[in-house]
Amino acid sequence: MTDFDALTPEALRARGSMKWNRRGPEVLPMWVAEMDYPLAEPVAEAIDAVVARQGFGYAEVDDRVPRAFADFAERRLGMSVNPEWTTVVPHVLAGIEVAIDVFTPKDAGVVVTTPAYMHFLEIPGLTGRQAVDVPLLETPGAQTVDEQWHLDLDGIERAFAEGARSLILCQPYNPVGKVFSREELAALARIVAKYDGWVISDEIHAPLTMPGIRHIAYASVDETAASHCVTVTSASKSFSIPGLPCATVTLHTQQAHQRFIEGAHPDHLYGATTLGMEANIAAFTHGDEWLDEVRAAIWANTLRLKEFVDAELPGVEYLPGQATYLAWLDLRQTGLGDDPGSWLAEHGKVWLNSGADFGANGAGFARLNLATTTAILEDGLGRIKGALDAR
Ligand SMILES: Cc1ncc(COP(=O)(O)O)c(C=O)c1O
Repeated sequence: MTDFDALTPEALRARGSMKWNRRGPEVLPMWVAEMDYPLAEPVAEAIDAVVARQGFGYAEVDDRVPRAFADFAERRLGMSVNPEWTTVVPHVLAGIEVAIDVFTPKDAGVVVTTPAYMHFLEIPGLTGRQAVDVPLLETPGAQTVDEQWHLDLDGIERAFAEGARSLILCQPYNPVGKVFSREELAALARIVAKYDGWVISDEIHAPLTMPGIRHIAYASVDETAASHCVTVTSASKSFSIPGLPCATVTLHTQQAHQRFIEGAHPDHLYGATTLGMEANIAAFTHGDEWLDEVRAAIWANTLRLKEFVDAELPGVEYLPGQATYLAWLDLRQTGLGDDPGSWLAEHGKVWLNSGADFGANGAGFARLNLATTTAILEDGLGRIKGALDAR
């Protein structure tokens, strides 16, 4: 990992991104879901080629992104994707918003399971619908995230019985890092089908599974799931290009795709850029080797975090995720109250996302971004310990 570890905070700040510049240089940023790693060579070359030819006009969207994604999905994600039923959109969040609008009635609630990626809590409102919070069930004393967090299937069924018609699924799950099992997803599919509803499955973190873990695409669970699934994703998260707009919305039947295309206003689908599309194509087509290096680096950081938390941070609980580079730290026993993230930023000069931003049951948690160098991780861990010890 020598190339990755050569990065310095100064060089990262010079990139100009929000992650490294929102607060002053004295605060170490381990918050927003953006990697610090340098781009995969093929992705950097694809971007350079667009810059060299000044490819900054309105993007001509064709089937190359859908085809590249379909090949990648087959090869890496265990999912069959028909490129003809895949639509290019600028962002995953935009795809989710349009899908809710097209497939569900205006007065139908949208189930969001918390702790949730914070924007999921906002999207229903943007479409004029209500977010219906159905918190994940937590098993106290669990030894793995897989055992710790479960969908509240009874709660979800109640929400659909009361009028919800869609659920935003995060598979793998930001922030807790779980990959839901086939059985759990099949049970969800039976409920959603019973109410003629939809699952909008955000699978942006799918390429980032940890050793021994396979991604399980919701649409791959069974025909029932596929028939009511909208898969939304992008290479942006796992290939470190979140500032280059390009994402995809995949339907899994001809009829659903037709309904999506006819129901969505073209202005709401428009906005992917040539830079984003070329970078996505390069990532999906030539990014495997780099992706595996990154997954190994994240796993090494995961193990280091686990070791450090267990040995050095009494009162803090951490269970390694099955996917994503996001660590969901449980600080409920530290006595720091509902917002330990803000406390750490103030007292430790290390910025983690506040758990409460992910919903009420995120209170007492903080989310730490592991996609960084070992030196930056060590610096961050030292700051957390220093602040906790100095209380
Ligand atoms: C689960 C999830 N979905 C979507 C996004 C953002 O995707 P986009 O910028 O394409 O809307 C993120 C970013 O952190 C995320 O974690």
